Amino acid sequence: MNSLSVNHLLGIKYLNLNDLELIFKTADNFKQVINRPIKKVPSLRDVTIANLFFENSTRTKLSFELAEKRLSADILNFSSSQSSVKKGESLIDTVNNILAMKVDMVVIRHSNPGAPHLLSNEVDATIINAGDGAHEHPTQALLDSYSIRQEIGSLKNKNILIVGDILHSRVALSNIFALQLQGANVSVCGPNTLIPKYIEELGVKVESNLDKALKWCDVANMLRLQNERMSESFFPSVREYRKYYGLTKERLNKLNKEIVIMHPGPINRGVEITSEVADSKNSIILDQVENGVAIRMAVIYLLAKKNINH
Ligand code: CP
Repeated sequence: MNSLSVNHLLGIKYLNLNDLELIFKTADNFKQVINRPIKKVPSLRDVTIANLFFENSTRTKLSFELAEKRLSADILNFSSSQSSVKKGESLIDTVNNILAMKVDMVVIRHSNPGAPHLLSNEVDATIINAGDGAHEHPTQALLDSYSIRQEIGSLKNKNILIVGDILHSRVALSNIFALQLQGANVSVCGPNTLIPKYIEELGVKVESNLDKALKWCDVANMLRLQNERMSESFFPSVREYRKYYGLTKERLNKLNKEIVIMHPGPINRGVEITSEVADSKNSIILDQVENGVAIRMAVIYLLAKKNINH
């Protein structure tokens, strides 16, 4: 198969294993491109992409923008705080006005789960979800799997642990779908109040003791407390959270084995992970960021190839 099964990237939930393998193979090629002296290809010279960020972002926004530039696409960058959304314009009206300027593809980050899905039904463009509320963050999960494979090879039967605020995390859900498609075993660990009740129905194990969970895993993906999505208190104090769920060198030293350490960023150093661990040789945090550009080039290229007549 050299074509994706979907017309939009709304979530990992809608992809199959062939889609994942095709994206990873295409990303391998683009990774070579971005490591050459001339880091660009002319593939999408005739494609225009709008990046619509209704929520803050550093990595995802810049990574998409760079991926689009490396593919030679034309780009429009939209930030809701400086737009007519502030005057009450709806999402659909905003996007339809942007599309009237002959835009082919929309990358959207939005705080409302389902916003990219709504757009895919209502507007005439290819939609890529760059994170919708606490729902999905598909390109993050793709770059995470790609980075793990680069480190330890096939994910089949590997034990992957996701630690922290699972309840408010779009990264967790997309990772669970992607990892399970590739045959990995997935566990989550965190305070009971931050573990969704439905999680075991997804085939995910729950372990509340971080030391036990670390002994089990090959890879630990540490998540940030998503304070911006919390309207109440989910644990007694940050000090207590750090004591029970923070990844420290002392905890890792007790394992008598090496594990791969990941974090999607942004990091709260000294809370879910210490600086010593985040910057250690076992950490692949910056590899994740580097791989994000190749993964996003692959996703954009494959969707454009499928949907847009050149
Ligand atoms: N990992 C991630 O989505 O980071 P940003 O919020 O900075 O895009």
